[in-house]
Amino acid sequence: MAGNIKAIKGTKDTLPSESYKLQYIEQAALDTAKAYGFHEMRTPVFEYTELFDRSVGETTDVVQKEMYTFNDKGDRSITLRPEGTAGAVRAFLEHGLFNEPLPQKVCYLTSCYRYEKPQAGRLREFHQFGIECFGAASPVADAEIIALANSYFNFIGIEKLAVEINSIGCPECRKKYSAALKEYFAEKQGELCETCLSRLERNPMRILDCKSPVCSEIAESAPVVLDYICDDCREHFEKLQSYLDALNIEYVVNPQIVRGLDYYTRTVFEFVSLDEKTKGLVLGGGGRYDGLIEELGGAAMPACGFAMGLERLLIAMEESGIPFPEAPKCNLSIVTAGENALLKALEISSDLRSAGYSVNIDTVGRSIKAQMKYANKINSEFTVVIGDNELESGKAMLKSMQDGTQTEVELNAFEEVFERAYLDKAVAAFGETDFSTLTQVDLNNLF
Ligand code: HAM
Repeated sequence: MAGNIKAIKGTKDTLPSESYKLQYIEQAALDTAKAYGFHEMRTPVFEYTELFDRSVGETTDVVQKEMYTFNDKGDRSITLRPEGTAGAVRAFLEHGLFNEPLPQKVCYLTSCYRYEKPQAGRLREFHQFGIECFGAASPVADAEIIALANSYFNFIGIEKLAVEINSIGCPECRKKYSAALKEYFAEKQGELCETCLSRLERNPMRILDCKSPVCSEIAESAPVVLDYICDDCREHFEKLQSYLDALNIEYVVNPQIVRGLDYYTRTVFEFVSLDEKTKGLVLGGGGRYDGLIEELGGAAMPACGFAMGLERLLIAMEESGIPFPEAPKCNLSIVTAGENALLKALEISSDLRSAGYSVNIDTVGRSIKAQMKYANKINSEFTVVIGDNELESGKAMLKSMQDGTQTEVELNAFEEVFERAYLDKAVAAFGETDFSTLTQVDLNNLF
């Protein structure tokens, strides 16, 4: 009975059997952000196209080739956000958050849209967790951002990961660097793709992250930006490294990192998978963007941030066998025979659900046998059958589906007995646990 309309290429459904994994990594991200003083901000999925032209940059792959742009019915050019930073800066300015205590530290979980060639870890609709810190120029802010991302990956259990950092300098350094790049690429003009030819004059740095194989091969031997940065930028970069050392965060300086978005200044960094199966996959990246707030109409104000792809993180976790918390369970299935039993089940389930338990009752009028089968299939931890006999005696048998043990329970004091049986089971599992072998995820499952 499959329908004949399929999901759009490069998009992905998250089914109930998987969604708890996403909920887990999202909650962990918000918790980590909170520990560093970042609080959630939500912005619309679409913005005026101009916002991305002026922030991400008109000569980037994202703006030139990948944006979902359309005119709305009022003939305004609208774009589905390709990333989260531009919208966060727009909201920061629009709501006068610069009048609040600085730095302002925000985080977000958002869907993003890029018309890229879909492949493993590259989707047209994907999801980012991002953080932005507005109003801090010191490299300590960069170090904190990297530390937050690093502790998140550690918490999740991603161990084989490189932190690669670089500095791409300020606009002054960029002028000298752009001149050197122009000279280098001008000699290879005949081999560059059409888009890169147009970038040669306007923004030669963008040639460095062109995805065409020929351009990327040529880019490999291009001059590196680190050789062109000024003394102030160098000092900023060195200080960042000393802070990372103090935090015991291992990193490598990779002078090739320039990032694919125009707004960056000074620090840029990426978290790259080192696991055999996902080697080279960039799980997240970010950097400093000291000119963006002013570019979008605010006062000059430094800022830095980071974002990571949630789908890529899930791939990395699955490929390296990192455990997820257990899928949520149905704590109790109430199996009923007859209308009066159903009324009792409604009453009991309502009380237990208010107390925080997950309870299932029959909503399709199945036989007792079929209800038991369903209870088994949805992994109910306990079941109880209520029929005429139970209603008459006011007592029923609560059955543990794990070991088959049964406990008599008064229907009028159901919650109390169920709670005790449930806790006994949890305590028994706790008693058998060898805590020395537990991971963070196991501990989360226990408590
Ligand atoms: P970005 O490097 O373009 O940076 O994206 C960040 C992360 O989003 C990537 O490292 C990757 O994990 C994920 N990602 C990007 N494109 C895709 C895709 N097509 N499919 C799946 N995942 C993808 C930014 O977006 C910046 N706004 C980060 C930032 C925040 N810089 C400062 N603040």
